[in-house]
Amino acid sequence: MDRPLISPSILSADFARLGEDVRAIDEAGADWIHVDVMDGHFVPNITIGPGVVKALRPHSQKPFDVHLMISPIDLFLDAFAEAGADIITVHPEAGPHLHRTIQRIKGLGKKAGVSLNPATPAKMLDYVLDEIDLVLVMSVNPGFGGQKFIASQLRKIEAIANRVSKEGLEVQVEVDGGIDPETARQAVAAGATVLVAGTAAFKGGPSHYQANIQALRGDG
Ligand code: DX5
Ligand code: ZN
Repeated sequence: MDRPLISPSILSADFARLGEDVRAIDEAGADWIHVDVMDGHFVPNITIGPGVVKALRPHSQKPFDVHLMISPIDLFLDAFAEAGADIITVHPEAGPHLHRTIQRIKGLGKKAGVSLNPATPAKMLDYVLDEIDLVLVMSVNPGFGGQKFIASQLRKIEAIANRVSKEGLEVQVEVDGGIDPETARQAVAAGATVLVAGTAAFKGGPSHYQANIQALRGDG
């Protein structure tokens, strides 16, 4: 099994000192920085917009893994690309033309991801999997950190990972929600290549970040 990449979700960082926290989690060994964007419409919570992404950009050279939970989706793609997103992930339910949205992200020179809610089947990927760089399997219903991992999503991860390998595609399989060292192990065994973690990455404050990340990776 390959070592997974760790993408800490800054939803669990200290919003009053976000820049310092992004820097600290980067220095602690984060591979990517996961940015959860929520609009109070597609999901029942509101977080941050492109202005904050832009302000955070100088604090880390790591890829910004931007998870858009907003609808309509197409209106804001350019703004997040300009703000410094490297990967832009969208939900199929957030707009009427998923294929067009993916083409737009790629046209902006960014990597494109598609995120599946717990009840959304892997079948949604049938006609786009070879167009994208990442699949984000939600292992909680999106909207909040600190929720319990939904174990049925392991089957979905496995099905997608098998398809990616059978078709020889270069697609990351990322999992998001309720990831701790134990569910991380299960997700990686099922074929996940990138782990998002909010609570488990940021718990205990900056002096714990390095150990938190190592535990999620399964090191030590
Ligand atoms: C949920 C977000 C997640 C969330 C994960 O809507 O997409 O990224 O912050 O948080 P934990 O790891 O606490 O479940
Ligand atoms: Zn997320």
